[in-house]
Amino acid sequence: MRLPALLFLAAASLCAADGYDVYTRHCAACHIELMDKATAVARFKTLKAPPMVEVSNRLKENIIIADDDEDVHRHLVILFIKDYIENPELYKTMCRPMALERFDVMPSLKGKLSDAERQAVAEWIYDRYKNVTFR
Ligand code: HEC
Repeated sequence: MRLPALLFLAAASLCAADGYDVYTRHCAACHIELMDKATAVARFKTLKAPPMVEVSNRLKENIIIADDDEDVHRHLVILFIKDYIENPELYKTMCRPMALERFDVMPSLKGKLSDAERQAVAEWIYDRYKNVTFR
């Protein structure tokens, strides 16, 4: 009875979204995956949005919790990202004012990503840059 197990695996892989895949399909056109600060400054005029390494670093630095609990911190950063994908707002952004002036607020992607895809890409943004500092 090998077939049911195989079918189950196929179904599971269809449901579990791959964060990097979601990033390449929905975010990469605007957010470059990796870039150092000096290059970002030099190429500022050609960028469509802050590089994702910068987004990840800034959210992690700005979202501060009283307890030293990585799981809680990760959860809150992921919640912020999941919300921002569908409901980006000027009052929510942590983007620098100078960059905002140039980029404007991100357009909403409401309806384009499933909940699982938003979860997967938000987890990927947190974990991908675990030991990668934007500098
Ligand atoms: C059409 C271009 C575009 C696409 C596509 C796009 N973004 Fe953005 N995003 C922006 C711009 C511009 C900003 C900076 C202004 C702002 O904070 O709203 C931004 C800001 C953000 C921020 C907030 C950063 C902060 O400092 O507060 C998050 C989080 C984010 N994007 C996540 C994503 C994710 C995840 C995707 C893909 C699912 C995505 N974006 C797709 C243009 C885009």
